[in-house]
Amino acid sequence: MRNQKKYLFILFIAFLSIFFFNTNSCVQTSVTKTKIINGYNFTDTQGNVINAHGGGFLKVGKYYYWIGENRKNGVFVSCYRSKDLLNWEFRGDLLTRQSHPELDKANIERPKVIYNEKTKQFVMWMHYEYGKDYSYARAAVATSPDIEKPFTFLKSFRPFNNMSRDCNLYKDEDGTAYFFSAARENYDMIMYKLTVDYLDVKEQIATLWPGGHREAPALAKRGNYYFIITSACTGWAPNQAKYAYAKSITGPWSELKNIGNATTYDSQSTYILPVAGKEITNYLYVGDRWDSKNYSNSRYIFLPLKFQNDTTMELNWVDKIIPDVQTGKLE
Ligand code: GAL
Repeated sequence: MRNQKKYLFILFIAFLSIFFFNTNSCVQTSVTKTKIINGYNFTDTQGNVINAHGGGFLKVGKYYYWIGENRKNGVFVSCYRSKDLLNWEFRGDLLTRQSHPELDKANIERPKVIYNEKTKQFVMWMHYEYGKDYSYARAAVATSPDIEKPFTFLKSFRPFNNMSRDCNLYKDEDGTAYFFSAARENYDMIMYKLTVDYLDVKEQIATLWPGGHREAPALAKRGNYYFIITSACTGWAPNQAKYAYAKSITGPWSELKNIGNATTYDSQSTYILPVAGKEITNYLYVGDRWDSKNYSNSRYIFLPLKFQNDTTMELNWVDKIIPDVQTGKLE
């Protein structure tokens, strides 16, 4: 009798643990996010940590795409999509070590994707290294007709023979695309105009703040002004971000001005994400909070950019943010 009771009790406990384990795992995978909490691990709709560091964003139809660095299991670039900028669905790996022989010992950083209407191709530019260090200092290009499918790696090269490390793309309203990249051992930020197919550099347009040692460029246009945020050059360690503005993207660009605090709230810029709603267009600063010891533990920071007038930009810390993609408001 005693044994039977014991047996029933064990059965009851086993049943309870199975019930709670399942409910719990259910909550883990199907929870709908209602806000971005800054500085914490950001998970996708499967409950897995999002690996899209040094990333960029692109709106295609009703989806925002988030494409960035993934350094796990031979993957270089991963793709996520979301309708609300809160709940991100993993859609696949766009570039891996196996994608091309030139990638076998490569290191890929800061991939950015834009769409070319004329060729109907998504075009990715990125920072390409080969082997253990950063001495290759090249740009690389890959394309795909489908943003969610693996990209074809085309080439790596030095634009007009310049070194090329931290970089970003900017597609202007008229369809002209520009590539910004840190050259001359990161002393110079060079701006290039791309060819009509976006597969090459057509013209070296300007060196912004020669000798200024700026990295991590991120651009946006608000009203009649272009803005660029850059970081200083301190590896994985955060530093003071600065911004500049210009009426024409080809310059002249203003002097650099501080934005955010001395460590940019422990982050480094990667993108300025416009949230264009029916009522207003707001802009989110997207930064990486790097973990130099455990790269995959690096976090993301989404902060609202504030504008007091046409040419000033402010960045303040918020613990959480709720973007409303319908109205464009940020709460
Ligand atoms: C940072 C750069 C990162 C990565 C890192 C390596 O300055 O922005 O993309 O290259 O250096 O130390």
